[in-house]
Amino acid sequence: MALGFVESGMRLGLGTGSTASWFVRLLAEKVEAGLDVVGVPTSEATAALARELGVKLTTLEEVDGLDLTVDGADEFDPALNLVKGGGGALLREKIVAADSARMIVVADESKRVAALGAFPLPIEVVTFGSGATLRAITGTARDLGLTGSLVFRQAKDGSRFVTDQGNWIVDASFRQISAPEALAPALAAIPGVVEHGLFVGLASCVILAGREGVERIDA
Ligand code: A5P
Repeated sequence: MALGFVESGMRLGLGTGSTASWFVRLLAEKVEAGLDVVGVPTSEATAALARELGVKLTTLEEVDGLDLTVDGADEFDPALNLVKGGGGALLREKIVAADSARMIVVADESKRVAALGAFPLPIEVVTFGSGATLRAITGTARDLGLTGSLVFRQAKDGSRFVTDQGNWIVDASFRQISAPEALAPALAAIPGVVEHGLFVGLASCVILAGREGVERIDA
């Protein structure tokens, strides 16, 4: 269904994660059959997949904005606000989505929530002064009535997870984020916070795969 939005000549944002990778795979089949598109990958992993499958890549320096981004999400609420960054690519994902005329989310039923926050919110921080940044995040969240544990994400080998941009990720378990539109700018204003995984007002549509079939939910 997401492929149905793609037309020849489009400049596409290519998302990251297990769901978005299926879109890249299916897109590659269309490219092989003659579809002419270029993609901006949101991670090194997606770039490698697209290259391997023969999808032409470009950068946001080479093109003047994108027509469409298709990406996954960790959670979406009824207003189509998202939590993203479970795969650690939230910074590039947000830059790409924000430079796109349209962002479409591909997800399954497990991502649909009444309120965001059960999935820990990823917050990308610079390594310098991360203790201070952590304290500032805690204080800012508390001012908005949010408490919960903040932990630095670990890689599979137990070392600290490092993003494609060389930063660290703090996963914040706020449990329920009732006002994402207030938390998003407050987190973004903290020195040391590079970006966070709250995508507010960016998704125009969710394509949801459920037991009964595939459903399109518009913002
Ligand atoms: C990557 O950083 C994330 O934002 C993913 O888009 C999100 O975690 C969804 O991934 P899955 O499709 O693997 O659940």
